[in-house]
Amino acid sequence: MSLEQAKLVAAYRAVDEFVQNNNIVGIGSGSTVVYAVQRLAERVETENLNVTCIPTSFQAKQLIIKHNLILGELDTNPIIDVTIDGADEVDANMTLIKGGGGCLLQEKIIASCSKKMIVIADYTKDSEKLGDRYKKGIPIEVVPMAYVPIKIKIIQMFGGEIKLRSAIAKAGPVVTDNGNFILDWLFTNQDLDWDQVNSEIKMIPGVVETGLFVKMCNKAYFGQAEGTVAERS
Ligand code: 5RP
Repeated sequence: MSLEQAKLVAAYRAVDEFVQNNNIVGIGSGSTVVYAVQRLAERVETENLNVTCIPTSFQAKQLIIKHNLILGELDTNPIIDVTIDGADEVDANMTLIKGGGGCLLQEKIIASCSKKMIVIADYTKDSEKLGDRYKKGIPIEVVPMAYVPIKIKIIQMFGGEIKLRSAIAKAGPVVTDNGNFILDWLFTNQDLDWDQVNSEIKMIPGVVETGLFVKMCNKAYFGQAEGTVAERS
């Protein structure tokens, strides 16, 4: 079974278990969410569900439109019933690294407005400690003018190494949906208190958001190589 199939089974399970008629649903970003939106569109069609979808990114918005689902926004739907999103890594305490696709800010806003946040992922994202599986570090969205001092401060505070994200080597920096840059923090200490780290990094002027999602995820589904789905809550 392929990795894509593992993503699909996790996504289908989450949509089938958590989306109900008349729900406001947060739509995450990334390649696994594509299968969730596919399944949601199938259910809307076959079960005649009334569902409004709130996107976490430009990509999510395009997916919602492509599948003819109802597109909503926080202005009119500030309380979301359930958000289904991917993750780059999920540790044993359900702390997440997100933002591999650069959408962490809107993803965290939408998760924070949701009664439930459900993560869908393939088995490679399931880990004991952050950094066991995902080797690209913790994404941090920053205001462009402040990226150098922020880099210096984070390294002074917690060590490690920080890279300004660029799409292609020697190209300019990646610019997020919100016009910001992404720093990828390659941390070396896996035993940090992630709640505290998140709070302290967010206190640095110019930091917009971190890709650390602490105590936000209610349940995670991991599609397995053999086609089953493991869950953690
Ligand atoms: C984007 C994200 C994604 O949810 C995360 O990168 C997982 O993506 P994929 O499902 O493609 O592995 O946080 O900012």
